[in-house]
Amino acid sequence: MSAQDIWIFGYGSLIWRPDFDYLERQTASVAGWTRRFWQGSHDHRGTPDEPGRVVTLIEDSTQTCTGVAYRLSADAAHKIFDALDHREKNGYERLELCATTPTQRQLNTITYVATPDNFAYLGPAPLAALSAQIANSIGPSGPNTEYLFELADALRTLEVDDAHVFELEQQVRTLLS
Ligand code: SIN
Repeated sequence: MSAQDIWIFGYGSLIWRPDFDYLERQTASVAGWTRRFWQGSHDHRGTPDEPGRVVTLIEDSTQTCTGVAYRLSADAAHKIFDALDHREKNGYERLELCATTPTQRQLNTITYVATPDNFAYLGPAPLAALSAQIANSIGPSGPNTEYLFELADALRTLEVDDAHVFELEQQVRTLLS
């Protein structure tokens, strides 16, 4: 890895809809973090009055979160981060996290994380409440269910087992059936 390499680690919509050009895409994992539908979405998958739920990373020393890392060209990076700062403006901040590929490459990444002290954080809730909120929410980017189902499909493609996401998917599909 060169010191100049610029990587973004995505664990939510950035897995299945990055919306930017990249030089390289790698499955990668960050240790000490877990993916949870604990962040409110007032601007994409819900509204200010009826927020949806999207994923953030929660610190947990016993867990590892697998997603995708993208290597950016240095020339394009500035514009890409401007666009992502706008897209992720509902409570996410950029953190520097180390991600590891299946071949043990260590990547220094920029990762958008919504920490528990942000204004849009909703936190944990029982599975039934999470599922109902996702089943019923819709925002300017579309239904909250699309976000959940696309993420679940992308994780299956990556062969990532994520019980939190897959249980939610199953509950929401049951609610919709
Ligand atoms: C991410 O995908 O890495 C951040 C959360 C999101 O945009 O869904």
